[in-house]
Amino acid sequence: MFAERVLSGMRPTGRLHLGHYHGVLKNWVKLQAEYPCLFFAADWHALTTDYDNPKGIEASVWEMIVDWLAAGVDPAQATIFIQSRVPEHAELHLLMSMMTPQGWLERVPTYKDQQEKLSHKDLSTYGFLGYPLLMSADILIYRADKVPVGEDQLPHVEFTRELARRFNHMYGREPGFEEKAKEAIKKLGSKRARLYDEFRTRFQQNGDEEGLALGKALLEEAQNLSMGDRERLYGYLEGSGKMILVEPGALLTEASRMPGLDGQKMSKSYGNTIFLREEADSLTKKIRTMQTDPARVRRTDPGDPEKCPVWQFHVIYSDDSTRNWVTQGCKSAGIGCIECKQPVIDAVLKEQDAMRERAQPYLDDPTLVKSIVADGCDKARKLAQETMREVRDAMGLSYT
Ligand code: TRP
Ligand code: SF4
Repeated sequence: MFAERVLSGMRPTGRLHLGHYHGVLKNWVKLQAEYPCLFFAADWHALTTDYDNPKGIEASVWEMIVDWLAAGVDPAQATIFIQSRVPEHAELHLLMSMMTPQGWLERVPTYKDQQEKLSHKDLSTYGFLGYPLLMSADILIYRADKVPVGEDQLPHVEFTRELARRFNHMYGREPGFEEKAKEAIKKLGSKRARLYDEFRTRFQQNGDEEGLALGKALLEEAQNLSMGDRERLYGYLEGSGKMILVEPGALLTEASRMPGLDGQKMSKSYGNTIFLREEADSLTKKIRTMQTDPARVRRTDPGDPEKCPVWQFHVIYSDDSTRNWVTQGCKSAGIGCIECKQPVIDAVLKEQDAMRERAQPYLDDPTLVKSIVADGCDKARKLAQETMREVRDAMGLSYT
């Protein structure tokens, strides 16, 4: 669609752990080399559940962003910003709230689930109900076509697609659309105009998907179109009205196989985490005291790696030969558990050395982080403002 663009957000929850690294950040680092990426701290999202205790949010945001940088998210490649510093997200959220059916929100599966799971909190608030809509605004305001998320967030991306469709359908039908589209075609220049017409006909009369793809590619290349004309021509190609908001696709991030110290999912609420940039002593101690196969009570008892959380770490951190050494040694009681854990300790420490090194300048001088974020906010805001102009215009609020 318009330009390819990746957007993702993370709630500020304080120091990040290895689960975040292997489940999310490694993927961001890969994506930033492939696409223009926007990554943001979703501080308003934190308020949808923690509205009664907002004190820690700010510190968590800065800590989290240092962890992103430590993990290799590169401000020269990706735009890093804070949601609340781009207030246009709130304006889009408000405007879309006017046309969002309440039932759609009530039917988002996480709504009831989370209310039940967090039953110690009163989540019968307007903000909590509107949380998926806020997420939609985050995505749509950047016309992001790719949204890397975990499985739990897929319904929200689907919700966003439906909302974009509804919005375009409702507000993309400007008076004189057909004439304006035809005027815009002329601006493509005669050769491109002829091709556009041909591709459009192929798609609309014969349902030829290739015609649609070729037409989109042609529009992507056409440099001299205004945003409004571009929206018209995308819409006209597909046979709808103006395409003001872009339907995003989810990039499903594979669930992290990173278990916690006890073999359950690594999560702050289970207290089984290893932090990014964890102090070497405490890291070593955490792994040394990690649970192992309960059958190995004594050093001479054989064990089974499949029943041992440490094995899961070897799967992530060790090469084949180390893994063979573990399997053989464990099953024959040839090695002890402390011995078995050492390569894991070494590997995690090594991984974290690089992170520590990257983080150090930001710890020495926190204004560096602030200026990266200030820059990112400026960039994000420009994009957001462009979309908001179109949205206001489409909803009759441009007061020119
Ligand atoms: N809701 C997401 C989560 O809890 C975070 C988030 C907020 C997000 N806005 C987003 C993710 C936009 C992707 C795109 O994990
Ligand atoms: Fe787990 Fe290794 Fe001990 Fe076997 S030897 S139980 S894999 S820690």
